[in-house]
Amino acid sequence: MTTSSAPGKVYLFGEHAVVYGEPAVPCAIERRARVTVEERDDDRVRVEADELTLDGFTVMWGGESGDRPDVNVPTPLVEAAMGYIDNALEQARDAADAPDAGFDITVESDIPLGAGLGSSAAVVVAGIDAGTRELGVELDPIEIADRAYQVEYEVQDGQASRADTFCSAMGGVVRVQGDDCRRIEGVSNLPFVVGYDGGSGDTGELVAGVRKLKEEYEFAENTVESIGDIVRNGESALRNDDLEELGRLMDFNHGLLSALGVSGRTLDSMVWTAREADALGAKLTGAGGGGCIVALDRTEQTKTALEYTPGCEAAFRAELDTDGVRVESE
Ligand code: PMV
Repeated sequence: MTTSSAPGKVYLFGEHAVVYGEPAVPCAIERRARVTVEERDDDRVRVEADELTLDGFTVMWGGESGDRPDVNVPTPLVEAAMGYIDNALEQARDAADAPDAGFDITVESDIPLGAGLGSSAAVVVAGIDAGTRELGVELDPIEIADRAYQVEYEVQDGQASRADTFCSAMGGVVRVQGDDCRRIEGVSNLPFVVGYDGGSGDTGELVAGVRKLKEEYEFAENTVESIGDIVRNGESALRNDDLEELGRLMDFNHGLLSALGVSGRTLDSMVWTAREADALGAKLTGAGGGGCIVALDRTEQTKTALEYTPGCEAAFRAELDTDGVRVESE
């Protein structure tokens, strides 16, 4: 039996623009998905999941009967979760040259699902690591990141950047531009606070909306390029450890994401709460629509203010996690 874990992430800068070749800077946070894998002596797969936004479910498939899920949670969510897990296991079988391996899987996660914190990437990265180790093979994190990206690409119909999967596998602060992924070393702690509205956005739909806007309006094209400029400015602020400047740039980034139509009432309301609580800056994180915002605040003020904000379901401090994927027990 092998358990591996991998962190979720927030986007400091650059979501959506990264889809069009601009750089993005995601940061791993100390909220993890843990996947436990035990090889079976048949070729079936049994999954038990205990996700924050799911009630928990057990699914079994494979073998001759090809059982379908008997669950008490919405089918699309389960199907999406199963798609990620199934493809991650396929990657593990491929890497270990064990095409018929069956598994018992347990997924535990303290990352809200579909809320811009990279929950699916964390499950896939941890699943590939645990699955391959269970089959006696150890992959380096770069290869895990690459295989996890293939999974997201497959499950999300090609609408995936390498940002989530690379960040989850490597940990820390990373820079992603197209296929060029690297860690940004030497960043000291970033005082993140996350506000979560309990909802989620449809990444595919939101990405398609921005693409359409870009095709129709030059301002949208320019907005995407301006987000790229913010990211480049942000990189030098990171190098200079200039938190005030980072916060200002996050505020700009949120404004431009709003202009592209991907914010939402609760996200905007949480961003304004953070600003009024004297956060250094705040923005939505991930695809948008609903889900999470991230603010930068050294004090407890933003977290406390968010806790009293209508529409905010949870607020928590999220320390930067310098560890990426790691084995918890073997
Ligand atoms: O909401 P998330 O964590 O899936 O992030 C989506 C980020 C986008 O830039 C909108 C799409 C992508 O794959 O980069």
